[in-house]
Amino acid sequence: MRLSLFFVLTVLVGAGFSDVIFEENFDCRQISQTAVKSGENAVSVSKGSLDFSWLEETGNKLLHKGNDVDAVWDVDIEPYRKNSKTIYISFLLRNLNPDVKHSFAGLGIYNNGNELFGIGNDFESNYFKYYYSGGSRIIGKAPTLVDGEVHLIAARIDFRKGKKDKFTIWLDPLVRRDLNDQNEWKIARGEFEFDFNELRFRAGDENNKWEFDELKIATDWDSLFEYDNSPGGKVSKAIKNAELPGRSEKLDKDVNRFYAKYADLEQVPFSFAIAKEFENVSRLQETPGLRPVFSKTNGRKYVYFDTPAEDDFYGIGEAQGGLKRNGYRIVFYNRDNYNYRIPDKMYQSHPWVMGVRPDGTAYGIIFDTTWKSEIDLRAGILFSVPGDALDFPVYTLEAKNPSRLLEMLGEITGKIDMPPRWAIGYQQCRYSYYPDSRVREIAREFRQRQIPCDVIWLDIHYMDGYRIFTFDPERFPNPKGLNDYLHTKGFKNVWMIDPAPKYEEGYSVYDSGSEIDAWVKTKDGEDYIGKVWPGKTVFPDYTIPRVRKWWADHYQDFLDQGVDGVWNDMNEPAVFEAKGHTMPPDNIHRGGGKLKPGKHIQYHNVYGYLMIKATREGMLQYAPNKRPFVLSRANFLGGQRFGATWTGDNGSTWAHLEQSIPMSLNLSLSGQPFNGPDIGGFVGDATPQLYAHWISAGAYFPFSRSHTANGTKNHEPWSFGEETEKASRRALNKRYRLMPYLYTLFWHSHKNGSAVMKPVFFADPDDKSLRAEDQVFMLGDNLIVIPKWAEDVNLPEGVFRDLEIGDNEKWDKYQCKLLQKGGSIIPVGEKVQSTEELGAVNPITLSIVLDENGKASGRLYEDSGKGYEFKEGEFVVSNFKAERTDGGISVTCDKQVGEFAYDKRFVKIAWITENGISFGYGDICKEIEVMKTDKFEYIE
Ligand code: GLC
Repeated sequence: MRLSLFFVLTVLVGAGFSDVIFEENFDCRQISQTAVKSGENAVSVSKGSLDFSWLEETGNKLLHKGNDVDAVWDVDIEPYRKNSKTIYISFLLRNLNPDVKHSFAGLGIYNNGNELFGIGNDFESNYFKYYYSGGSRIIGKAPTLVDGEVHLIAARIDFRKGKKDKFTIWLDPLVRRDLNDQNEWKIARGEFEFDFNELRFRAGDENNKWEFDELKIATDWDSLFEYDNSPGGKVSKAIKNAELPGRSEKLDKDVNRFYAKYADLEQVPFSFAIAKEFENVSRLQETPGLRPVFSKTNGRKYVYFDTPAEDDFYGIGEAQGGLKRNGYRIVFYNRDNYNYRIPDKMYQSHPWVMGVRPDGTAYGIIFDTTWKSEIDLRAGILFSVPGDALDFPVYTLEAKNPSRLLEMLGEITGKIDMPPRWAIGYQQCRYSYYPDSRVREIAREFRQRQIPCDVIWLDIHYMDGYRIFTFDPERFPNPKGLNDYLHTKGFKNVWMIDPAPKYEEGYSVYDSGSEIDAWVKTKDGEDYIGKVWPGKTVFPDYTIPRVRKWWADHYQDFLDQGVDGVWNDMNEPAVFEAKGHTMPPDNIHRGGGKLKPGKHIQYHNVYGYLMIKATREGMLQYAPNKRPFVLSRANFLGGQRFGATWTGDNGSTWAHLEQSIPMSLNLSLSGQPFNGPDIGGFVGDATPQLYAHWISAGAYFPFSRSHTANGTKNHEPWSFGEETEKASRRALNKRYRLMPYLYTLFWHSHKNGSAVMKPVFFADPDDKSLRAEDQVFMLGDNLIVIPKWAEDVNLPEGVFRDLEIGDNEKWDKYQCKLLQKGGSIIPVGEKVQSTEELGAVNPITLSIVLDENGKASGRLYEDSGKGYEFKEGEFVVSNFKAERTDGGISVTCDKQVGEFAYDKRFVKIAWITENGISFGYGDICKEIEVMKTDKFEYIE
C-alpha cells in the first residue's frame, strides 16, 4: 500500500470552517474544503532537504501510522505569491482531543494537486515529522498538542525566483514561542526547489473532533497575528480599546483593585489568592499608568494591559520555558503533565505576572479568579476566562524593585509557614521503596556512605491496594516500627496520600465519606466516579467544610504511626482515561461557608489547594506544636500558605535538568518559595553524568529531593558508580554546611515573603543583560550558584568571590561554582549527616567578603527547628558586621534579637579576598580581629 503524505481523507461536515479569516486583498475563492483519497496523489520528492542537524535527541525511528479522517483546506498560493516574496501562514485548531490517537496537524506543499511533501505533527508519537511519499522522517518533538484547547502552527515561506521556484520554508509548531523572534524559526527549516501552486492544511483524527478555526495567510507579520482570541501575537482593536474599568479602588499605597464595568459585584466569589484584609479602601482618584481594560467578545471575558514592549515579564507560576515570559501563552488549569508533554499547562496555577521595566522598577498583576483561564504575553498582558465565568477583581502592585514586589505579593497572598528544619534537608524518594526492609536498607546506606540526608519518602506501594490511609499488611506490617527505626537513624519520613479513595463499600474511608455525602457530584447529581491508582475512585469535595474536617480527622490514626510529613499527590485532580485527564468541567462542587456551590471549572484550580489546607489542618489538630510539612503537586496562587510544591513528573533528560532552574525560579517569583524538581528526573533512567550534574545543582534548590518513577533503575546517589556518588556527597555536604544561611532565608521568606531562590537580575534590576539569565541562580541576595554546565552566563557586576566549602574541588566535573557577594557575611555550619544532629544554636563559621568600601554584614536566624516556640520569642537573630582595619578586618555581632540571645559565642571567621582565605577565631560577642594572610584555599 502506498502511504499518502497524510491519511485517508473523508469530508467533514460542519467542522467549524465558517470562521476562516483572510486578508482582504486576496482572492480567497480558491480556498475550499476538499476530500482526497489516500494514495491518489502520492508523488516522489525530487529535490530538497530539511536541516536535521539540530536534531540529535529524537533519532529517526518511528514510522507514521495515521490513516484516519482529515479536515482539509486547499489554498491557491498564486495570489499571495504575486504580492510578496514572503508569505506568512498560521492556523488555529480547537477542540483537539488529546486522548484520540492517530491525530495529525500539518501543512502540505502541492503542485497541480500533487503532494510534494508535508510537515506536521503526529500526536500519537509526539513527533514533528517530515512526510514524503515513501514514508516519514522525524524532525523533532511535537509539543503542539494543547489538550483540547487552541493550537497555533505558524509557517513562513520565502520564495526566490529562479528557473523554478526555490523557496525556504520555516515552520514553528511551538505554541509559546516568541513569533517575532526569527531565531525561533530554525526549528523546522528546509530549502526546496519545486514548482508549487497550492498549500494544503490538514488536521484530523478518527473521531472528527478537530476544528480548523482560523486560517490566515498574509504578506506581513502584523496582520497575521492579529487575532480576536488570545493565541495571536497581536491583540485586536476590540480588546485593546475596550472599556476602562468600572469600580477602581486604592487599597494601599501602591496597590489598586479594578473591576470591569459590566461586573456583577454581588456575584464576585470568595478569593483564594488574597489573604490580606485591606482596611482603608478608597476610590481611586488618580489615573495610574498601570490600568486594565475589560471586554467581552467571542464568548470570552478579557482583561488587557497595554504594557510597553520593553518590559520583561516573569511569574505566571510553573510554566515550561525560559525565565523571561515575554511571548508566552499558557492556560491555568491544573494538569497532570507526565514528562511535561503538554506545553501550555502545568500542575499548579498562579494567575499572576511580574513586570520589570527597563529602569528596574517592577509591577505585578493578580487576576483573582480560580476559573480556567489563560494568559497571553505576546503583546502586552492579555488574560481571559470563559464568558460564563464569574467576574473577578484585578489587583495591580507597584514597587521600586522586583524584591520589594515579591514582598508585597507575600503581604497580599500570604507567606509560607516556617518549615521544620528537616524539610530543608536533602530527601530521598522513589516510586516506590518497598517493602519496609528496603526502606531500612536505603537509610542504612546513607549513613554508612556518609551522604547527608534528612528524609526518606514512601510512595503509593506502601498502601493496601492503593487505598489511602491504609498500609499493605505484607510490605509494611509495622509502619510505626519502621518510622521509629528511621527516627533512631536521624531520618524523618514522608508518606503519600492521594485525594481519591477507592470506590468500594466496606472500605472505611469510602464508607465514612459516603455517610457524610462527601463526594464531588456529576452534573446530574450522582457521585462522580473516576479512575486513579486503586481503580474506581470517588473524589472528596473539599469545598465543603464538613468534608475538609472529615479529611483532617483522618490524619489522627495515620500520624499516630510516627508519620512526620505528608505528600499529597494527584490533586489536580488527575483522573485516568478521562477527557483532559481530569473530571468533567461541569461536575458540581457544593461549597459551604464562604464558598458558593459551583462547577468544577470554577474550583478545579483550587482542588489541590483545598486538599492540602485540610491536610495541614489535620496535622496541626494532631500535633499543634509541630510545624507540619505537606508537599503538594497541584496548587494555586496563595497556596504557599499550606504547603511546599514540587514540579511534577519531569523526565531524566538534559532539557528537563536545564528547565528545572527557570521553572523553580518562576514559581519562586509567583509567591511559592518552597519548591524544587525531582532531582535526576522522574521519567526514565538518568545516566551517571546527568544525575551527578543534577544533584550537584539540585543541592541548592529550596526543596531538594531525588525521585524516580516505577520501574526505572535505582536513582540513589550511590547507584550510579563512584564518581557520581562522590559528586553527590560533596554537593549535599555543601547544602548542609550552608544550612544556617538557608534556614535564615526560609525565615526571611516566612517573615516577609521574599524568595529563597532568585534570578540574578534581582541583584541588579536595571541591568538588562541579566534579565533572561536562567542557567544560574541566587540563593538569597548573597550567593550565586553557577552549574558546571552553564555557558556564557551573565553575572551581576560588583565584587564576587569563590566560596569554596569542604575541599578544594576545582578539578571536580560536576560541582557548581558558588560566588559570595561583596559586602556579605554568610554563616556556614559544620558537616552533619542530618539536621537532627543540630541544636538551636550551633557552631558556625562566618564567611566574609568585603565590598568596595571595606564593609560587610549578614544575618543569622536560629531556633529549635521544630515547633512554634519561636513565636513566643524562643529564637535568636544575630546581625554580624565586618570592617576593614589596618592589615585585617574586625568582626562583631552588631545586634541580637530573641530569647536565645547569647553573651558569649566562639565562632570561626573566614575572610575571603581575591588572593585566598584568612581565618580567625574568637568570641563574636566581643570583637574578633582577623589579619590578612590569604593562606587558605577553602573553608574546611
Ligand atoms: C505521580 C507523582 C509521582 C509519584 C507517582 C506514584 O506520578 O507525580 O511523583 O511517584 O504518581 O505515586
